[in-house]
Amino acid sequence: MSSHATSAASFDLSAQVTGHDNQVPLLDGSCTRPINFDHAASTPALRSVHETVNKFLSWYSSVHRGTGFSSQISTAAFENARTIVGGFVSARPDQHVVIFGANTTWAINKLARRLAFRPGEVVITSELEHHADDLPWRQVARVAYIRVDERGQLDEDHLAYLLKQHERRVKLVAISGGSNVTGTLPNIHRIAEQAHAAGARIAVDCAQLAPHRAIDIGDLDDPAHLDYVSLSAHKLYAPFGTGVLIGRRDTFANGTPETVGGGTIKVVTPSDIIWADAPARDEAGTPNVVGAVALAAAVQALERIGMDNVAAHEAALTAALLERLPEVPGIKIFGDTDPANAASRLGVVPFQIEGVDHRLIGAVLSSEYGIAVRSGAFCAQPYLRRLLNLSDDELSCEPTSKPVGLVRASVGLANTLEDVDALVAALHTIARGEHRGTYELDTHEGVFRAQGWQPRLEDYFDLFAA
Ligand code: ALA
Repeated sequence: MSSHATSAASFDLSAQVTGHDNQVPLLDGSCTRPINFDHAASTPALRSVHETVNKFLSWYSSVHRGTGFSSQISTAAFENARTIVGGFVSARPDQHVVIFGANTTWAINKLARRLAFRPGEVVITSELEHHADDLPWRQVARVAYIRVDERGQLDEDHLAYLLKQHERRVKLVAISGGSNVTGTLPNIHRIAEQAHAAGARIAVDCAQLAPHRAIDIGDLDDPAHLDYVSLSAHKLYAPFGTGVLIGRRDTFANGTPETVGGGTIKVVTPSDIIWADAPARDEAGTPNVVGAVALAAAVQALERIGMDNVAAHEAALTAALLERLPEVPGIKIFGDTDPANAASRLGVVPFQIEGVDHRLIGAVLSSEYGIAVRSGAFCAQPYLRRLLNLSDDELSCEPTSKPVGLVRASVGLANTLEDVDALVAALHTIARGEHRGTYELDTHEGVFRAQGWQPRLEDYFDLFAA
């Protein structure tokens, strides 16, 4: 085992995460502790988040205009959460505004509407984006895509070319801070310099980056600053339905919000509206106060651990994955496969095993080993199609056809080297076709299920019995 891997052995953070001590049922009738390699999709709550939310709930009440004592506590908690979350990306209160909403998808859609594109204006994004950082731009602007190479690296010369090709029309460069498919970390500050030099602004989708690295949005005077960042609490160990858009104050000081209603106004008459100041103008309706408190608690917990420690812990796990997975017969790993680069990427590792449907691999890992991964296209179909060299003619929505997809293992705080060993051992069995169950495709859902086995979910959690 490598030195990267060995250094992670003493770094067991699993006790900080809820659910790691659950027991999940297996096909052979036994139970096991769950192993979670699906952090890129969503994360369990940290215990400290759970405790903070529990404590807060008895004080929960309406914010901003409530007069009761609980309302005062709730308002203070909501605004303190704003300060804490802004601090997590080093937002400057005089330059930036922190807007709470649903998730990163909400944040990017809001930004797309609030930037008020004029006809002919261009957004440059990249070929590795999540649908959330692609589709919203298609609705409001012309979109150009920065090329990505085999290892997942953005071609910055191609960005320079696109900036020149669309000179004076590029309003925004919108890129992922970290790929949810290959774990690539684009050099966001270098790209910001390029964008700013061309008179454009930059928005960074930090959904995947924020749980793994410290982020500095930067001072507006610094050419490497980021103009807008967005992130989701459910990927940050606070799955309570919150997302955040943090961006330059001047963008949100004026203009009409894309969603309007209570909270967004100062004055309404039958014929006139005076909009509220930022951020209230962009937070229509009663906000998700519990979600904001949860996110702030998660951010505080991550800062206590230290983002450098989080990164080191995950780099060691990633190195171990990249060292061990190639032992599995017939496996192909996508993106950067070099364990030596583990520290300069995220622990998001997509792969396939020759001749085995990616959906079957996911099903066997879960049913026979209690291991959670994700199989599919990870909300990034254009990038998956590129990785798999598929032409646009090869489109099918039929659940019986084999959809475009891979298996993805993604690491998080609670993972250990034993988890990597367990995943690799399970994949060996699957690659040899020696899994225990017989699986059939549920053509309605498009997933594989073990024949004759359906654990009673209500024995584990039953809302009707709660
Ligand atoms: N977009 C989430 C993922 O990457 C769901 O899996």
